[in-house]
Amino acid sequence: MDLSEMSQEDQAGQGALRYQLGFANEFATEALPGALPQGQNSPLKPPYGLVSELVSGTAFAAPRSLNRRSYVFRIRPSTISQPFEQLDSGNFLTPPLPIEPSPTALRWGPANIPDSHADFLDGVLTICGNGSPNSQAGLAIHLYRANASMRARAFANADGEMLIVPQQGAIHVVTEMGRLDVTPGELLLIPKGMKIRVELPGASSRGFVCENFGLPFVLPELGVIGSHGLANAIDFHAPMAAFEDDDSPVQLVHKFAGKLWTTELDHSPFDVVAWRGNWTPAKYDMRRFAAMGAAIVDHPDPSIYCALTSPSSDVAGGNADFMILPPRWLVAENTFRPPGYHRNSVAEILALIQGSNESRAGPFPPGSLSLHNHWTAHGPDVKTFEAARNAVLQPQKIDETLIVMWESRYPLEIAPAAMEVSFRQKAPAQGWAGFKKRFPGSE
Ligand code: FE2
Repeated sequence: MDLSEMSQEDQAGQGALRYQLGFANEFATEALPGALPQGQNSPLKPPYGLVSELVSGTAFAAPRSLNRRSYVFRIRPSTISQPFEQLDSGNFLTPPLPIEPSPTALRWGPANIPDSHADFLDGVLTICGNGSPNSQAGLAIHLYRANASMRARAFANADGEMLIVPQQGAIHVVTEMGRLDVTPGELLLIPKGMKIRVELPGASSRGFVCENFGLPFVLPELGVIGSHGLANAIDFHAPMAAFEDDDSPVQLVHKFAGKLWTTELDHSPFDVVAWRGNWTPAKYDMRRFAAMGAAIVDHPDPSIYCALTSPSSDVAGGNADFMILPPRWLVAENTFRPPGYHRNSVAEILALIQGSNESRAGPFPPGSLSLHNHWTAHGPDVKTFEAARNAVLQPQKIDETLIVMWESRYPLEIAPAAMEVSFRQKAPAQGWAGFKKRFPGSE
């Protein structure tokens, strides 16, 4: 077909974005009609003069249910003719981190947006992490604070899959597989090695990034829940193919083995005209999470809120489990309603995206983050405890909340800069001081 018949907007895939539905499906999408070869993946001469490239996100012979790979049909192959040079990683750190895991409860308030120019990559501040990309185990939790779009710059992370959770300000993410608009309340999964360019529709954006060094995130098994509930596969959105045919120079920043590397490309790497497979970014609106909960008494374990899991050990815990606590009804009878006191064999990082956290009366506005390492007891502060134990129990809707939480079996080390930032709260455990002893009370 004559490309001139198509508007530039159509070729670039801009305007209101459309998506393919599902999680790790066998997707197939083409930005130009007939760009996707039929019946084979490596034709002698693919349509439009494209080249065929296989991207394997898992071992070639991984079981079908876990195998992640896509064939992309692009203008040029991904091969790079220039050497990489190492780049200063700034505050974008990779475990093992310099500060050893601490049992002290840690908390950070909302991060400030930098005054100086900072795109998504510039604005990454590592908070904590464990494992290492070289051992392919563990995770890192970062903040990002951006006030500028990435321009003539692309980023690929060979170390970890990235789970990006904007908290304030939307992002428009250009990827090899297409484009995604992601707003606060949604999450974005970027597979290991996928090139991205993060743009800002507004003045700024901030949020959280979980870098997963372990097995790719999957939807958890539902067990006795049955065939649906929690994060339903159909609610994940994968991009439609969209491409740039642009021979302007681009800086490619490539994170590999804990370091940032850079090289210059002589064209846009977002030149995939068609692709098929299940190695793809995906976004998910966390407000669609079909929460399950108590119908008569007590609290289910937080695992009931698991949306995605990077499996490791059924007994010791996941490499990274990701939980969503959305708006929901609390109806349990004769039950202390807020999450109660507990100690865990896994580390927990909790972030407040919207609203408030029902177990914290102290300052914990949206954008805040808390860290409790293994066996560090936590639960409601004294004020919340006193209010909740005297509450009149009736069905209660928690409307104004969206909390996300990561759990990991490995102890979390801390990034030095995270201990120094002005928005770290210095004594978060004070909320637990002054607990009133009632024993041997008769209540
Ligand atoms: Fe907890």
